[in-house]
Amino acid sequence: MIRNTFTQSGELAIISGVKFFVPKFIKSLQVRVTVILSVFVILSSVILMNAILQSYDQRTVSVRTAEIQNQCTILSNQLVNSDYLKTGVSDVIDTELSQLSNIYNGRVLVIDDEFRIVEDTYDLEEGKTIISEDVVKCFRGEKPASYDRKSRYIEVAVPVKKGEEPVKGMILVSVSTDSLRDNVEALQSKARIATVAISIIGIFLSAIIGMLLVRPLKRMSQSIEEMAGGYGDNYLHENAYDETERISNAFNKLWDRYKVLDASREEFVANVSHELKTPLTSMKVLADSLLMQPDAPTEIYREFMGDLSEEIERENKIINDLLDLVKLDKKGANLNIKSQDVNELVERILKRLQPLAAKSNIELVFESFRPVTAEIDEVKIALVITNLVENAIKYNKENGWVHVSLNADHKYFYLKVADSGIGIPKEDTDHIFERFFRVDKSHSREIGGTGLGLSIARNAVVMHRGAIKVYSEPGEGTTFTVRIPLTYIKREG
Ligand SMILES: Nc1ncnc2c1ncn2[C@@H]1O[C@H](COP(=O)(O)OP(=O)(O)OP(=O)(O)O)[C@@H](O)[C@H]1O
Ligand SMILES: [Mg+2]
Repeated sequence: MIRNTFTQSGELAIISGVKFFVPKFIKSLQVRVTVILSVFVILSSVILMNAILQSYDQRTVSVRTAEIQNQCTILSNQLVNSDYLKTGVSDVIDTELSQLSNIYNGRVLVIDDEFRIVEDTYDLEEGKTIISEDVVKCFRGEKPASYDRKSRYIEVAVPVKKGEEPVKGMILVSVSTDSLRDNVEALQSKARIATVAISIIGIFLSAIIGMLLVRPLKRMSQSIEEMAGGYGDNYLHENAYDETERISNAFNKLWDRYKVLDASREEFVANVSHELKTPLTSMKVLADSLLMQPDAPTEIYREFMGDLSEEIERENKIINDLLDLVKLDKKGANLNIKSQDVNELVERILKRLQPLAAKSNIELVFESFRPVTAEIDEVKIALVITNLVENAIKYNKENGWVHVSLNADHKYFYLKVADSGIGIPKEDTDHIFERFFRVDKSHSREIGGTGLGLSIARNAVVMHRGAIKVYSEPGEGTTFTVRIPLTYIKREG
């Protein structure tokens, strides 16, 4: 069986329905920056070198053309006054013509005003007639010059005339540029070497720039890994770029949130273990003391067993409260929303708590301003009402009172639980909704409770998108107000 051994170093990309294997290194920003910069440097150096070579080529041709035109003009001045155009005889001019043809490795034709070739340095076409575009132009007084790039020769035509008199003849020179070519070729090979050198330096510099550009990102991922591993600096400080600074700030915020969550989780676990251990310690003490007295009378046994049963009951309550809390804490915990008669719900709960209130001779009053029906999770809202009323009774005085009232407007219903109890000190009102928080540990122990009731209540209210508030005057009493929307607003996302 053939196995794809590349999957480790890349992945499959699907582009317009076709699968491509993309090696992993192509995904690297460093590689991409290096490649893009290198391609840019190589292309620019090639284009630049070509442009330089071409302009050099053009310049040499135009310099050569101007030189020949100058020579021809000098010659044409000599021709003006001689009979050479008519007779074709003059040693001096012949010598000069052949010199011109030799120096520039070209052919010189002298043509008279009847388009007849008077002199041809190649001695091929003397006496013949020649008519070409350049010849015609020249007879009009112009000095045409052209360069045939393909066959690589320059053609120059210069009229022979005196001042404003009509053109008497012309000199036509065609010169090969092969000698110039050698220079250009030598330059070309130098340019090629220069291009290769620039490209190599360019690739090298691109690699360095790529590495430097990506370095802050690498540092960032390294710091994050160190932070995740539990060592290294406490925060990200990557301010090399505006972008990395923003990512660092966002990450630090997230990190802070994580630390808060982690701390609260640790505290929660510590509290839970402590709270669960307390009843267990009591149970152990009770059981041990019974074991120490083998002949203890039955009454003692009964009493201790009663205490043991109470401790078990307490342990059970803590576990049940914790389970409630965990259920409410779960993100997107399922609310069983139904239309519910809230008056009926409050009355039912108060009826159940009446005996508890009666124990301390507390007056429990329910005042309803109007019938209220709302979309709520009955069980969870029952938890809220029960906890508030239970607290109002528990933290009350003998012969005190608890007033529960229910009202509503077009959007919310409002539940108020007021008591004539011991109240909550100002500095503690911010904390009473925290898990396991109890105002007076020793006093509260007598009363019994775990400090989870209000945090369960608040979670349930928040899940209904409601709000819970507390107003308290130590020694005088406490009022809790709860506001819940009449129609349940579904949470997005
Ligand atoms: N109506 C109130 N009057 C005075 N103090 C209150 C009142 N309600 C709550 N508290 C204080 O807030 C603390 C937290 O209340 P919470 O209901 O969360 O816990 P608990 O009643 O002690 O235990 P649990 O409800 O879990 O059995 C209480 O211990 C108490 O000190
Ligand atoms: Mg409570």
